Amino acid sequence: MKFFIYHFLPPIIRKTTFIYFFRKLFYKIKYKKVDNRKIYNNWEKINLNRTALINLAISKFQKNIVNSDVNYLEIGCNNNENFNCVSLPVSNKYGVDPISGGNIRKTSDDFFEKNKLSFDVIFIDGLHTYQQCQKDIINSLKSLKLNGYIFVHDLIPTSWEVEHVPRLNGVWAGDVWKVAVELNESKGIEFKIINIDKGVGIIIKKSNEYEYTKLNSNLIHKTYSDFFDNYFKGMPILEHDEIHKII
Ligand SMILES: C[S@@+](CC[C@H](N)C(=O)[O-])C[C@H]1O[C@@H](n2cnc3c(N)ncnc32)[C@H](O)[C@@H]1O
Repeated sequence: MKFFIYHFLPPIIRKTTFIYFFRKLFYKIKYKKVDNRKIYNNWEKINLNRTALINLAISKFQKNIVNSDVNYLEIGCNNNENFNCVSLPVSNKYGVDPISGGNIRKTSDDFFEKNKLSFDVIFIDGLHTYQQCQKDIINSLKSLKLNGYIFVHDLIPTSWEVEHVPRLNGVWAGDVWKVAVELNESKGIEFKIINIDKGVGIIIKKSNEYEYTKLNSNLIHKTYSDFFDNYFKGMPILEHDEIHKII
């Protein structure tokens, strides 16, 4: 059945599916035994997603919907599925992506290098690797107003293929879960993960004297198996009906 569907896919998707198939096979052979344990969820049935959380956070600052002075930044916009649904005038939305979507055609590093603006709400959903996501969080915290919100997508990888860096799969969270371990140890911020939509992290900047805890040498080589065995249970996870505890 899968083979049959494959032939009806557009050529560009067929090409990437083909590449991912052989990359996955290579890693399966290389590591002999891959971790087949999965993290099960009911995200499809919850009907609450990242966009709803972002709009809820924006509503906390919003006094006037037409002449808004709330500034929103999105790192990684792709086809604007989220960016276009953020409930602010376009002049208050800054979408950074080197390839598609948003309104600033740059990488996040290039954007932050020259940025002088400060933001009330930031959504980080760019390159899904630990080191890039760590940089995006550190730079975002500097550009975030006091009591502002940062959202981070894809903090709960559900299988080894979804977590693997380099990318092997269409659905890809990468190893950004490692920043959640660091955020949990950091000072001057509040941090939770909402168990919806691939795991949406929420950071609130509670103090300008915050300290981001870097654990690179401990985390860099950790894999999905480490996440499953040692880290997942310790994550500060809230269910969808508990969001009032943080926003
Ligand atoms: C998962 S998509 C974003 C989806 C979007 N935020 C949404 O919710 O619908 C990831 C995007 O990050 C972009 N990206 C990759 N590397 C980046 C970088 N260094 N800086 C900013 N964006 C990057 C990719 O071009 C891609 O469009």
